Amino acid sequence: MSSGPDPVALARELRERIRYHSRLYYSENRTEISDEEYDALVLRLVQLEEENPELRTPDSPTQRVGAPPVDSFPEVLHDPPMLSLDNVFGAEQFDAFERRVMTDLGLESPPIYSVEPKLDGVALSLLYRDSVLVRGSTRGDGFTGEDVTPNVRTIRSIPLRLSKPFPGELEVRGETFFRLADFARMNREREERGETPFANPRNAASGSIRQQDSHVTAARPLSFVAYSCGRSPEGISSQSDLLLMLKELGLPVSDLSTTCRGVAQVREAHARFGSLRPELPFEMDGIVAKLDDLELQERMGVVSRSPRWAVAWKFHAEEVATRLLGIEVSVGRTGKLTPVARLDPVRVGGVTVSSATLHNEDELLRKDVRPGDMVMVRRAGDVIPEVVRSLPSGGERGDRFEFPVRCPVCGGPVVRPEGEAAHRCMNPACPARIRQSLFHWASRDAMDIEGLGEKLCDQLVERGLVRDIADLYTLSHDQLAGLDRMGELSAANLLARLDQSRSMPLSRFLAGLGIPGVGSTVASLLSTRFGGLAGLMEADEGELMELDGIGPVLARSLREFFDDSVTRGVVERLLKAGFEPSAEPGDEGAKPLAGLTMVFTGALSLPRAEAERLSEIAGAKVTSSVSGSTDLVVAGPGAGSKLEKARSMGVRIIDEEEWRSMLEA
Ligand code: IVH
Repeated sequence: MSSGPDPVALARELRERIRYHSRLYYSENRTEISDEEYDALVLRLVQLEEENPELRTPDSPTQRVGAPPVDSFPEVLHDPPMLSLDNVFGAEQFDAFERRVMTDLGLESPPIYSVEPKLDGVALSLLYRDSVLVRGSTRGDGFTGEDVTPNVRTIRSIPLRLSKPFPGELEVRGETFFRLADFARMNREREERGETPFANPRNAASGSIRQQDSHVTAARPLSFVAYSCGRSPEGISSQSDLLLMLKELGLPVSDLSTTCRGVAQVREAHARFGSLRPELPFEMDGIVAKLDDLELQERMGVVSRSPRWAVAWKFHAEEVATRLLGIEVSVGRTGKLTPVARLDPVRVGGVTVSSATLHNEDELLRKDVRPGDMVMVRRAGDVIPEVVRSLPSGGERGDRFEFPVRCPVCGGPVVRPEGEAAHRCMNPACPARIRQSLFHWASRDAMDIEGLGEKLCDQLVERGLVRDIADLYTLSHDQLAGLDRMGELSAANLLARLDQSRSMPLSRFLAGLGIPGVGSTVASLLSTRFGGLAGLMEADEGELMELDGIGPVLARSLREFFDDSVTRGVVERLLKAGFEPSAEPGDEGAKPLAGLTMVFTGALSLPRAEAERLSEIAGAKVTSSVSGSTDLVVAGPGAGSKLEKARSMGVRIIDEEEWRSMLEA
């Protein structure tokens, strides 16, 4: 027996110290010891628990590393449901919201609101029992979520034990998200390993929290901020007190949150929060204003899935000026040529942007942007950067950009098909097209082959090892191991992942082929209807159009794909390589909008008919006017009377971005 200090007492002391410093760091943004000292404390505790396994407890700070993988996530019922928020677009609409609240509640003067940042991440529910974290779950559809406890435990800013005793159950709700610096670092590391970088912090957060292997989540630096409780604890009568209580319990809450009385103060807060945006270490897409008094909240109640006591007021997409250094043309998987602006790097909406899309030749001509111009840049839908317009300088300007007549990658002929806005490279062997198609095949919604990133696809194409996706399945261990930044181990891993992909279901197989117009939703629809490839490959346009959601354009696109000897040849070689794609039970097609009656109003970034079709495929019924049976209105810029009507009827209103995220859910 060692005669050192009592291990029980030592473990307790180490845990207390680790929790204390971790709370300072995550909840109060300050430190009293260095990172090395902190790591040394954790290491000491890990060693102690290894020597004395009986000392290990579920709330020990050592238990964040990850647990064995799970096949699926158990369901969690949310009671009360996890709601979503209606949007207001501007002070007048906020004013209308306030008037409604005052009328309904019979208030003489404007109420007090808790005004909080709206973080753009993924909502989580955390269940504490007698102060110990016992369950963490996703929001799901608001009523039923997924139990992702092992993943939630890996998030460093979520306390495994509250810092004060709280007897009984406490359900904390909040948002998990990536801080921008963590996101940038993670993406840099992914690229260095040849993995695909994430498109944006929100998608990355949503993917990370739903990992079946919590070790993967543990390696993703997620953060968390608490904003409410399932049921408010006894003795708490306002949202602002609730936030204070959560903070006292050691949970991270935003220190930007504040209280305001009336629309004028809320408008000021909206402007103030907005001006802080460029400096904040995380993405904030608007503010949330909630009636502060919980009793008033209760009296306002809930319609469909949104509270009548709170609204989100989003910020306008931020626009900033920078210099256009040049225009390049990139070639996509379908051969589409996209003009891309090379920019003097500039921060927009929290991320550094050095290139932005100019969409197509018509847009380019309409905006008349030329190399050397100062241009305004914004993140469209707050994700993909775009050039909005040129700023007049009065001085000498560069030449107008001439759209290339030959593909900038392979030199093949470029045509602009009748009725299309895009130019296309017609050479099916164009390396840019091959590279993009490989990349698409490997993407998360298709074969989900980790490790087959852009750099690797480049090498495979440049060295002539791969000319289409079917060639991937002819690669040998030695060929792979001989590539730059690949070794024996990564080659073996990639081969194993390629092998696994052979058993992917039909919907993913179809989504991966890159048939124009066929993404995950349409692929699921086809998979349910046809069950296997044979019937689909032979179906004529009429048969295809019988499917709800498939119109003449998609039907033609599918037919052309399967009639073309080259693309059909690729599919046949995939089948020879061992693919037997069939519909999985439960692969019934994603119907995230099932049962909803919805109306579109205002401008969208895609044709209205397209948006309506996508919604219908996802299960919604789309109508042209707002009525008593409308569940949802998607409002874009310029929305007028329909929006007003929806407001006055208390119908849930969302923007295009939220609609898109519902489609993907
Ligand atoms: S309160 C009461 N507060 O926004 C109903 N939500 O569309 C909503 N969100 O799913 C919860 N910041 O993920 C609330 N300070 C905040 C929030 C917030 C972000 C998210 C949340 C929710 C979505 C609502």
